[in-house]
Amino acid sequence: MKTVKIGSVGLGRLGHEHAKNLATQVPGCELAAICDVDADRVKEVAEELGVQYTYTDFEEMCRNPELDAIVIVSPSFLHCQQIEIAMNNGKHVFCEKPLGTDVEQCKAAEKVIEAHPDLIFQLGFMRRFDKSYAEAKRKIDNGDIGKVVLVRSYTQDPRSTIESTLKFAPHSGGQYLDMCVHDIDLIRWFTGSNVKNVWAIGGVFEFDLYKELNDADNAAATIQMENGAMGFMFTNRTHAAGSNVETEIIGTHGTLRIANVGAKNLLNIVDEHGSREEYYPDFMSRWHEAFVAEMVAFTGHVRDNTKPADLTVYDGTAVSEAAYRCKESFETGKMLPIR
Ligand SMILES: NC(=O)c1ccc[n+]([C@@H]2O[C@H](COP(=O)([O-])OP(=O)(O)OC[C@H]3O[C@@H](n4cnc5c(N)ncnc54)[C@H](O)[C@@H]3O)[C@@H](O)[C@H]2O)c1
Repeated sequence: MKTVKIGSVGLGRLGHEHAKNLATQVPGCELAAICDVDADRVKEVAEELGVQYTYTDFEEMCRNPELDAIVIVSPSFLHCQQIEIAMNNGKHVFCEKPLGTDVEQCKAAEKVIEAHPDLIFQLGFMRRFDKSYAEAKRKIDNGDIGKVVLVRSYTQDPRSTIESTLKFAPHSGGQYLDMCVHDIDLIRWFTGSNVKNVWAIGGVFEFDLYKELNDADNAAATIQMENGAMGFMFTNRTHAAGSNVETEIIGTHGTLRIANVGAKNLLNIVDEHGSREEYYPDFMSRWHEAFVAEMVAFTGHVRDNTKPADLTVYDGTAVSEAAYRCKESFETGKMLPIR
């Protein structure tokens, strides 16, 4: 089996998780290079994971002829320009969500990817690689619940990680582009349709930084799909008990629920507070297996020269566009069509 050599950029919250997974949990792959503008961080992670090549300049890393592929885990506004640099240097690309923070960036990325049909591109919608979500999709495609009528999707981050969340907020693109892109991706994937109209509402219930950013710490949106199906999503940064993501898919012949997924395991604890299950403390632990699975899939595509069948750059653009319209709807208070 050919070893796929990877260079990874961005060594922050998720960048470190991806780097660790690539170095230790993805068979047939070598984390050969890492890059971050923070030189101390690069040195620290290189020592921890035994990485051969280190960079503070992204383009320089992309020029390394030994690398097969680049994994992009930098701030969201850099994604599209880094996709272009990596592909122009002949590298396959895995890029974290969102594809871009505005639609123009996404359209430009489409052109770059179209200009390199020999290179593989995969986007970081890791929920699709979670066993429960993948099984739900199989059942829907099999017709088990008839026509999908409504998808309800909640993404709640815990209060306990608010410090790093607030630090990340100014360059996140806002709640809709940062958090809701996952829910919009699921709604499109499960309904098999594109977004037609959005109406987004929300507010700042606790963390004033979001007021300064013209954003919300609790936000919701109602979505109408082109095929008539409906979506509802809710996101917040103030969940009391760890990371909670729950999804319900209502069909004409049945309902699928990926509920109570915040529960860490099947342990039931009974004590002086009553009866309870513990939640995953943060998104990293909730999605750990999915983060590994998406990298196994990506390196497999690079090795076998195959492309992800239904996770394309166009999904990235469509999701970012819908998320951006949600942001505009939130700001104007109006229901808006996708242009
Ligand atoms: N799939 C998911 O659920 C999920 C979860 C969290 C974050 N993300 C995405 O991952 C990306 C990174 O998020 P994060 O939480 O790790 O952010 P972060 O702020 O913790 O880390 C970003 C890192 O990028 C580095 N960086 C900034 N500019 C750079 C440049 N020009 N070249 C090289 N390095 C640079 C910073 O020094 C920092 O170490 C974002 O796009 C985010 O949307 C996805």
